[in-house]
Amino acid sequence: MAQALAAALQLDRLSPLREAVRTLTRLADHQASESLFLSKGKEILTQLIAQDHWLEEDFRKTHPDYYQQYLLYCDPHERFSLQSFVWGPGQSTPIHDHTVWGLVGVLQGAESCVRYRQTAEGLVSDGPAFVLEKGSVDAVSPSVGDIHKVSNWFSDRTSISIHIYGANVGNLRRHTFDAATGAKKDFVSGYSHNRLPNLWDRAAFIRAQDLKTLPARS
Ligand SMILES: [Fe+2]
Repeated sequence: MAQALAAALQLDRLSPLREAVRTLTRLADHQASESLFLSKGKEILTQLIAQDHWLEEDFRKTHPDYYQQYLLYCDPHERFSLQSFVWGPGQSTPIHDHTVWGLVGVLQGAESCVRYRQTAEGLVSDGPAFVLEKGSVDAVSPSVGDIHKVSNWFSDRTSISIHIYGANVGNLRRHTFDAATGAKKDFVSGYSHNRLPNLWDRAAFIRAQDLKTLPARS
């Protein structure tokens, strides 16, 4: 049975991502509040990053100079989206905001994060840097704290995190901030890749079930 389950995972590799998309779609269809998205989304993301066989090689590739932001799925109404962020050794973001709710879950390696807030005196750090280890999830949003800088905690290996946002985040007008002056600059991040995982091809799994070599799945 264990062998059959392993074979099923291999033949329907994207099922964890597909299930996450289905659950998020149900939440969006029920017009879930931001707080419900953040609490349920944390459960969904924790489950998704508990295994990592489902993330294909194309969405784990580093760039020598920049972190990569690969779109994995975007809701047709752009109510939410999922990405893999891939950090080469020592790579980091600028200080930036999101303007929508978001969740960051570490799939591989570890990331360090510093939160910031805007005050009358300018931009100030909101607590010390902290480490997000593999399996942990952090939240951002204009209501819970939206400005941060994220770095690969490792200087000698790749780290990967899976993100869920309450919009098509690559198309949002957002801001970066100068650490010294707090000056704001507009940016639209876009994505690092034009291909998305094909969530909907389950034919190999279905053929194997027809041959009775795999257990049935609901
Ligand atoms: Fe961020």
